[in-house]
Amino acid sequence: MAKLLPVDVFDLIIFGGTGDLAMRKLLPALFHRDRDGQITGDSRIIAAGRGALSREQYLELVEASLHKNLGKGEFDAAQWHSFSQRVHYVEADALQHERWGDLVAMLRGAEDRVRVAYLATAPSLFGPIAIGLRENGLVTENSRIVLEKPLGRDLASASEINDQVGDCFAENQIYRIDHYLGKETVQNLLALRFANSLLEPLWRRGSVDHVQITVAEDLGVGGRIDFYDRVGALRDMVQNHLLQLVCLTAMEAPSSLHHDAVRDEKIKVLRALRPIDADAVRSSTVRGQYGTGAINGESVPGYIDELEDKESSTETFVALKLEIDNWRWSNVPFYLRTGKRLNGKHSEIVVQFQDVPHSIFPEQKFNVVPNRLMIRLQPDEGVKLSLMAKEPGPGGFELRPVSLDLSFEETFGLRYPDAYERLLMEVLRGNPALFMRRDEVDAAWRWVDSIIAAWETSKQKVESYVAGSWGPSASDLLLDRDGRAWHPEI
Ligand code: BG6
Repeated sequence: MAKLLPVDVFDLIIFGGTGDLAMRKLLPALFHRDRDGQITGDSRIIAAGRGALSREQYLELVEASLHKNLGKGEFDAAQWHSFSQRVHYVEADALQHERWGDLVAMLRGAEDRVRVAYLATAPSLFGPIAIGLRENGLVTENSRIVLEKPLGRDLASASEINDQVGDCFAENQIYRIDHYLGKETVQNLLALRFANSLLEPLWRRGSVDHVQITVAEDLGVGGRIDFYDRVGALRDMVQNHLLQLVCLTAMEAPSSLHHDAVRDEKIKVLRALRPIDADAVRSSTVRGQYGTGAINGESVPGYIDELEDKESSTETFVALKLEIDNWRWSNVPFYLRTGKRLNGKHSEIVVQFQDVPHSIFPEQKFNVVPNRLMIRLQPDEGVKLSLMAKEPGPGGFELRPVSLDLSFEETFGLRYPDAYERLLMEVLRGNPALFMRRDEVDAAWRWVDSIIAAWETSKQKVESYVAGSWGPSASDLLLDRDGRAWHPEI
């Protein structure tokens, strides 16, 4: 079992302390880390919000949310009693810095501690909160600031936020979250690639035919629809989570796990992405929006119905073909797709190797399929390698694909910690390796901005798909045109 290293005593201020992210993800994650003894001494979790709540009222909210959001049987009254001693609440409006007296008083005399401000708020408040922290003298040498995604809606707005926050905090104090980087299986990708020598000679053009990355969700956009309608799948998922998966799959081996060594390799991938311009956009991208349909046998409304029949051309699905212009990946396409209301919650990276150059089993030519390495991120995290084998028995060669299947849960038999548990501990420990550096965010936006601009110029329409399907048929055509198909086992 992995060792749990305790973190130094800290003050963690959560702006947006009554919000969805704090309640659903951050406080349950901290509860788990406290239960496992990783949080030490009299470390404090200070929720800051606009509401005039007493500490007791806030604790009631947190307790109710832990009951709802922890796994089955994970709430424990004695543990809650000890955890609740750490939790405080202060009223602090992000835009009224002169009224942050309670927060200032609470932090007075604690300047030597690690101090983390977690901004679980709308990105438009990132700059104002950073300025408020500076103006109130709350930025110490030991301070860090955590920015949730989305970081802006394009390169220009992201740069503005980064400039404002950068005026108050040094770059090494800024932690930009992409929670996919905290997922165990995403980190396992590093182990798979760089703790094994077997794959490395094959991990390139010449051996790999193409790569597929799917991040599918069966949920719709639900209560976030007003926010989502201004964002869409490209900005919400591709700009960050999917591109980070591309980086970890495609990057060269870093010289160490030092945060800048890893991020230096990732940025090279982002800079090598071939821009998708107006000429290429139609043949390389698909935009979709879910209509009505059924998920697990239950009918669900379409996106427009959820929007109360307002018109919208926001995409809830995107598929695209991406090319990386470097020696390793030249002419090896990466196909990406992500969407809401698809046929299940399923994330997977599939590396498909090339076909055999010459078959000595001519009568089996339709049975022989190329080898595939499948890295399942969720659910049932694991790695699967499909190989061709002969069916046992007499009567010549009957070939069929079989799988070497490694399920992490069966192998390690452990609870998989939520990504936020790891990410919060890494911030408190001062390790930015799993967070995005400013140049990464900029490079990702630059590439995504070119697609958005091309969509606008070419007036590319969103195509409707049935909720519970795998997206619009154009997504299948994207691969079909290249003589390929999405991995069927998903
Ligand atoms: C978030 C997106 O970043 O990631 C959501 O804003 C999405 O729209 C979520 O649902 C998916 O995360 P996970 O960990 O459930 O795959």
